[in-house]
Amino acid sequence: MKLLVINGPNLNLLGLREPGLYGTVDYNGLVQMIQTACEQRGIEVRFYQSNHEGDLVDAIQQARFDCDGIVINPAAYTHTSIAILDALKAVNLPAAEVHITDVTKREPFRQISYAGMVCQGHFIGEGLQGYIHAVDFLQQKIKGKDC
Ligand code: DQA
Repeated sequence: MKLLVINGPNLNLLGLREPGLYGTVDYNGLVQMIQTACEQRGIEVRFYQSNHEGDLVDAIQQARFDCDGIVINPAAYTHTSIAILDALKAVNLPAAEVHITDVTKREPFRQISYAGMVCQGHFIGEGLQGYIHAVDFLQQKIKGKDC
């Protein structure tokens, strides 16, 4: 089983960016944490981070060739990007949405999630642990489908 973990704009600045909200672990620390969890579970994983919407769309499209599922934190594009929603629909892979912060308790403009409309799992406001829960969710979902 292989997963793609996608992170959108400004998540490359984790650790530096609003640490009161997003914590002090940097992007490499996040990658390391997910990589270790995936190794323990026998899951192959690829990581992709970009600040550019079209590049995120390309990465989602690319996943159809070699991935079984997608963990995605589209960051600010969550609330604006129909292109990311359409890409997730097009590849039709099991997907789980992650938000480090509890977007449901933040500004009104964060209350819509386009990508979330096609994700089967939603891990919101669990900090970095949400990514691990998303991996576990997809593993269960994909295993269930294969058996
Ligand atoms: C975020 C929440 C978004 O509203 C914000 O634009 C981000 C990060 C989160 O992980 O909590 O960049 O997706």
